[in-house]
Amino acid sequence: MRSGADDILGPTAVADPYSYFAELRATDPVHWIASYRSWFVVRHDDVSEALKSEDFSSDRIAPVIERLRSKDRPDISLIETLELLNGWLVFRNPPEHTRFRRLVHKAFSPRMIAAMREEVVSVAGELMDLAVARSSPDRPTDLIHEIAYPLPAIVIAGMLGVPPEDRDLFKDWSDDISALVFGALDDEGRHERARHGMSELVRYIGELLDRVRLQPGDDLATALVESRDGEDGLTNEELIAICVNLLFGGHETTTNLIANSMLGLLKNPEQKELLRTDPAIIGAAIEEFLRYDGPAKSVVRVVAADTELGGKSMKRGDRVFLMLAGANHDPEVFDRPDELDLRRKPNKHIGFGAGVHYCLGASLARLEASVVIPLMLERFPECELGSEQLEWDPVLLTRGMKHLPVFLHADR
Ligand code: HEM
Repeated sequence: MRSGADDILGPTAVADPYSYFAELRATDPVHWIASYRSWFVVRHDDVSEALKSEDFSSDRIAPVIERLRSKDRPDISLIETLELLNGWLVFRNPPEHTRFRRLVHKAFSPRMIAAMREEVVSVAGELMDLAVARSSPDRPTDLIHEIAYPLPAIVIAGMLGVPPEDRDLFKDWSDDISALVFGALDDEGRHERARHGMSELVRYIGELLDRVRLQPGDDLATALVESRDGEDGLTNEELIAICVNLLFGGHETTTNLIANSMLGLLKNPEQKELLRTDPAIIGAAIEEFLRYDGPAKSVVRVVAADTELGGKSMKRGDRVFLMLAGANHDPEVFDRPDELDLRRKPNKHIGFGAGVHYCLGASLARLEASVVIPLMLERFPECELGSEQLEWDPVLLTRGMKHLPVFLHADR
């Protein structure tokens, strides 16, 4: 059993979670960390089993709301923010989740996503032009700021029918909510920011939906409003929740996929050269990026009924972090798990989760990454890492850097 080494958010584990999880996998693969009052699961088999089991519930906001309500002086504004989060698809359990997801899936269809390819190519090209115009030979370009961050935000906002001039509004609101969703619930400072971000976003989306009801377009917001299963359709509350969830879900994760993948290539020049000279392998390459250093470090569940996982007894109400990053480097499933191998086959990674909550935006994320990464290598074949000092976000749920400094060595 580990004890002093339980610093899962310490600088060493944040910089290199894979070595940390490898040690945990070898010593105690279903591990209780008392300071988090949570289980941490790192084997592929155990994580996959839990993702597909009804014993592990996604409804983890409602118990927090209940606990907050029972306090002497409940924080009403935090409760209101959490109630809005509680409506997100990702926090619902079947059968409610099944109906909700079916209706959303009808609108967020593969056809609608495939139709975005040209738009993604054009946005990526414009962002690269801007990055080149602002670059200088003696100062590295921050690839996150210039390309990986704006691209997914512009794409999902455009899909929903948000006019370009309003896009910047989302950045601040979304960052505020992110502090609550990906951070700790007990940080007072974050509550007010999250409440503000959430209420502004909800107000904006409400107005957007009113507009498309009056003037339907060929955008995702209209498709969601019009989505029907027989007589059944999405309620106004569900529409707002899913739009916020999509705007939010489509943001930071895809940013990190693009940035982490580019970092993987910059640190493995022979793999970079392989992809640059044979861009046809991009499909397999994206799957490997998701496995090797994917953006979703973990997903959270709450034990719904006393159960057992990997030989450990878990009690109803226990919180469980299913470490996708640990599972994706499990040597029982992957040969040479710590190597980036763009031709890896088979590749049973679970970077998008598994089971009923499998990422709804997976094909959009794949599309964006498969356009932007080869384009970057085509335009900046000589690009190099600008600094070895990379700052990773010290959080449990996502894996992302604050900046990615790169010398583009672009021909102007
Ligand atoms: C590389 C980028 C992405 C990664 C790694 C990722 C990862 C994930 C994971 C691991 C889950 C499962 C959560 C759970 O089981 O609790 C999930 C669910 C979800 N994702 Fe993504 N995601 C990405 C991009 C996107 C995009 C672009 C969108 C939308 C535009 C999106 C929307 C969603 C939604 C709505 C869910 C909830 C699905 C449900 O509960 O049925 N994601 N994502």
